Amino acid sequence: MDQRNVPIYEMLQHYLDAVPTQFTIPGHHRGAGISARWQAPVFRLDVTETPGTDDLHAPTGGILQAERLAAEAFGADETYFLVNGTTCGVEAMILAAATPGRKILVARNAHKSALMGLILSGAEPVWVQPEYSAALGLTGGISPAAVEAAFAKAPDAAAFLLVCPDYYGVCSDLPAIAAVCHRHGAMLLVDEAHGAHLHFCDCLPPDAMACGADMAVQSVHKTAGALTQASMLHLRRGRTDTGRMRAALHLVQSTSPSYLIMTSLDFARSELALHGSAFLRSACRLAQSARTEIRRIPGFFCPGAAELVGQCAVAAFDPTRVAISAAGLGLSGFALRARCYDEFGVDFELADERYALAIFSYASTAQDVRALLTALRAIAQSREFAASPHPACALPSFPPACLSPRDAFFAEKKAISWSDAVGAISGETVAPYPPGIPVLCPGERITQALWDYLENCRKLDGHFQGPSDDNLNTIQVIAAD
Ligand SMILES: Cc1ncc(COP(=O)(O)O)c(C=O)c1O
Repeated sequence: MDQRNVPIYEMLQHYLDAVPTQFTIPGHHRGAGISARWQAPVFRLDVTETPGTDDLHAPTGGILQAERLAAEAFGADETYFLVNGTTCGVEAMILAAATPGRKILVARNAHKSALMGLILSGAEPVWVQPEYSAALGLTGGISPAAVEAAFAKAPDAAAFLLVCPDYYGVCSDLPAIAAVCHRHGAMLLVDEAHGAHLHFCDCLPPDAMACGADMAVQSVHKTAGALTQASMLHLRRGRTDTGRMRAALHLVQSTSPSYLIMTSLDFARSELALHGSAFLRSACRLAQSARTEIRRIPGFFCPGAAELVGQCAVAAFDPTRVAISAAGLGLSGFALRARCYDEFGVDFELADERYALAIFSYASTAQDVRALLTALRAIAQSREFAASPHPACALPSFPPACLSPRDAFFAEKKAISWSDAVGAISGETVAPYPPGIPVLCPGERITQALWDYLENCRKLDGHFQGPSDDNLNTIQVIAAD
């Protein structure tokens, strides 16, 4: 197939030329109805399904061709374009793999979209805890032995869902994990939200489809040149019921899919296929040079493959993720991020107790690195530090589940003070954000260790997703407990 082709874009250009008059949605009619203060040529491509523009939910024309080009480029048997982000792809994978009451192994550091998939499907999670490096203050990978042990608890589990790579670029041993899953007749589903670029450069860890995953979802918008919400779901035929997969995607995707998002997926795939290797090699070099320089600044630390791979079930590491710690200066990741943002206009993807995380992409420049290093060197010299380094707090082990996520979601709840919450059954999710990974799920009993962990996040001004009280002064718990 010719990866220079962009069939969605070509289809839309043909449609716009051939059909000049429209009585259809969207109401702005090719941009004419958008505010005069915000005119942009791109709005012409924001059209709807018509005989000339194909249909994402039953593609036969330009969208199908674009998905086939993507499947070839990403090494999948089939690829589906997603307009509701990897969030909807993770939900769809769970809906396609497991039925109500069926067990599914889920990595505990899964994104909250996994929890949404569990609530929608009624599948029951058997959590698999990733390893944790206290020395680095980073979550590690999940070992094949941990997956094997989880199958011993749930031998009929339909699938294992894990995140790989995680936000920090940490990858588990996917080929070995795929072998364990397949030996147990289960599917391997990979939330590869942070790995759309991996397939295209040998400086990067191998991608999930190449490692034997049955399905993988990627946020193309996170690491390649696509619009926000643009994702792809790749699958391997064989263990996957493609009919159920399609039905699941109908359930979680808009019936008015954005052609701008789909066109951006088409172009991102073409760029990756044609130039990905060279572009990503240069992004890796840039990130590596930044890492080396940051490590030379007194008080700063920046872990790389040398510290990570081979430890704590980490099999590979994505060098474009640059986690920066100023703990040697007494600064938490939150404080480092705030100072870089407020004083130097340098914005990081996220912060936690230990690190501020910089994500490099092939749009990163040497100028960006200079600005980053200028900010970090100035902070190192300013001597306006906190009194003592803030201790990184290990993710607590998951608390006992009393209700399935779905039953807890629909149960009657009441609000109690956070200070009285130890021992209660949570009625909601609590996910420190970013990265939005649930620490507490609906139906789980709040342990002292978990309370301590979240209290520490509160004290550090962390933000939470999930609780109805954003500041976690109160929490919704199961009323009947
Ligand atoms: C691990 C992980 N999975 C899934 C998602 C959701 O992806 P999207 O924003 O494309 O819906 C995210 C978003 O940050 C994520 O970090």
